[in-house]
Amino acid sequence: MNPIRSTDLPFEPCPQVIKLQDVCLSIEGKTILNNLSLETKVSRLGVVGRNGSGKSTLSRVLSGLIEIRSGTLEVAGCNPFKDRKAALRNIGLLFQNPDHQIIFPTVIEEIMFGLRQLGQSKKQAQQNALATLVAFGKEHWQDAHISTLSGGQKHLVCLMAIVAMKPNLIILDEPFAGLDIPTKKQLQRYLNAFPGTLVHVSHDPSDLDGYDQLLWIDEGKVVAFGPAQEVLPTYLEEMHRIGDGDDISQLAD
Ligand SMILES: Nc1ncnc2c1ncn2[C@@H]1O[C@H](COP(=O)(O)OP(=O)(O)OP(=O)(O)O)[C@@H](O)[C@H]1O
Ligand SMILES: [Mg+2]
Repeated sequence: MNPIRSTDLPFEPCPQVIKLQDVCLSIEGKTILNNLSLETKVSRLGVVGRNGSGKSTLSRVLSGLIEIRSGTLEVAGCNPFKDRKAALRNIGLLFQNPDHQIIFPTVIEEIMFGLRQLGQSKKQAQQNALATLVAFGKEHWQDAHISTLSGGQKHLVCLMAIVAMKPNLIILDEPFAGLDIPTKKQLQRYLNAFPGTLVHVSHDPSDLDGYDQLLWIDEGKVVAFGPAQEVLPTYLEEMHRIGDGDDISQLAD
């Protein structure tokens, strides 16, 4: 596998502003995000928290897929829910499960889809999709049927589809869950070369090695937000403390 060089990627490097003020969101009467506020402009932001703490919901909010009930939101220069066009151009979301993301039968069609949504002609979209495949050393994948790809290969297709759209910010919702070590390392290498902002939700602290900042949420609220080297040890200590107890025996209300 050829390592990708950041110079091969058609991006303009620039950390993006993320600003949330008193963001609240409820689903079916249940509060999921509870007065979330933060302001940041870094290249690498990690998001941690327990199962059900609201990380995936936050990822969807940041990419404009769901509307907040109250508060204000600015991500990469736009309100991603209200300004869908700008959000489509600036923000990419990589889902945990590629099957929730992929809709077309072949690799090239899948990569072209987002480009067509950006208003590119069929020819332009085809050229740009191919250029992305070339940049990733995967030109030979263009006519491959997605159903014949492995889980890791599908992840890479999703990542290439996002990268082709040249976003300034990519949100990764547990992108490595279920991947074997080589596939994870390969994807990680591509992501490390991304010069824009990465917002990375992960349960594995080693995924967030070298990250600038960490946001720790619980029950949709900010527990801690700051330099990763300060937040991570406190977070891990608390997770191990809870793990030594037995709160999984508690039933939900
Ligand atoms: N569509 C929905 N309908 C009802 N409840 C939902 C919906 N989406 C999320 N929730 C609830 O919102 C809370 C937060 O869910 P979310 O998926 O954001 O958590 P998470 O931090 O990503 O968890 P995990 O680490 O397990 O992926 C959970 O209590 C979940 O049950
Ligand atoms: Mg989640």
